[in-house]
Amino acid sequence: MTVARQSHNTTQGQKVMERKVTKAVFPVAGLGTRFLPATKANPKEMLPIVDKPLIQYAAEEAVKAGINELIFVTSSSKRAIEDHFDKNYELETELAQRGKSKLLSIVQNVVPEHVTCVYVRQPEALGLGHAVLCARPVVGDDPFAVILADDLIECADECCLSQMVAVYREHGCSILGVEEVPRNETDRYGIVDPVSSSGRTSFIRNIVEKPAPEDARSNLAVVGRYILNPRIFAHLQTIPRGAGGEIQLTDAIEELLKEEQVLAYRFEGKRYDCGSKLGYLQATVEYALRHPELRDAFRDYLVAELGMEADKGLLRLSK
Ligand code: G1P
Repeated sequence: MTVARQSHNTTQGQKVMERKVTKAVFPVAGLGTRFLPATKANPKEMLPIVDKPLIQYAAEEAVKAGINELIFVTSSSKRAIEDHFDKNYELETELAQRGKSKLLSIVQNVVPEHVTCVYVRQPEALGLGHAVLCARPVVGDDPFAVILADDLIECADECCLSQMVAVYREHGCSILGVEEVPRNETDRYGIVDPVSSSGRTSFIRNIVEKPAPEDARSNLAVVGRYILNPRIFAHLQTIPRGAGGEIQLTDAIEELLKEEQVLAYRFEGKRYDCGSKLGYLQATVEYALRHPELRDAFRDYLVAELGMEADKGLLRLSK
């Protein structure tokens, strides 16, 4: 990973070692309407990619990045998420009695022991910004990460959030995970206007929530990874409702930019938009082609179904 140093960024006297990010907020209160009826009684974050729910991939990424407090912002229909990260005595006893030690270890290690899970309710569906604001009493005055579980990011080396934590340690300002998207899709994302790029990092001039392609200042889109300084809460508290009548995290970041620098970071890795059916299916196929127990049989099946010309492409994916 290349992390470029820029001269006008580091606050004098701030010790790099002190810039620790130990808390991550997972906004999981959304309705998941795009996957109905699958999400009628089941949270969209519990949809599996092969054999693990999306929210577990997100939690594992956070833990790899050094996070030890997972803060889930939930709503009344999201009990399954709490249950997933909780102990299940009945299942564990059953697996132990049947001698299924491998499965027992899988269910016992959904999160490592040193990690704490905290649940906060979002009483009304007032948007992503509002969800993050609901986590304020738990986050307090510390920098924190925000992870949107439906953006699944696969990295060859360091995970996306680890890369961003390294950038945060160096610069100490809020960091947004970004990637280039097709021009005609800018109206699905927060879009940043980059200035003074160096390597994978760019300081930004502004950020706009879901601009029409003709109004977008760039095609650099914020995906579901943020590291934010706690000052963001003051803005979330005061900004008016924005796009879609919701309190937008993007609008609070735009306010934060008037006071301090914010960096966009082009992460190294591949993002799957698991909030859309197509992205979800792509992730499922590609993760299955990498799954140690499944990949050979699944590849054989696909080659038989799609014809031999698919073989080369599938081989590449299964590496
Ligand atoms: C949210 C944010 C948007 C961001 C996107 C990333 O939008 O509001 O700025 O680009 O997540 O996935 P949503 O997908 O919730 O509409």
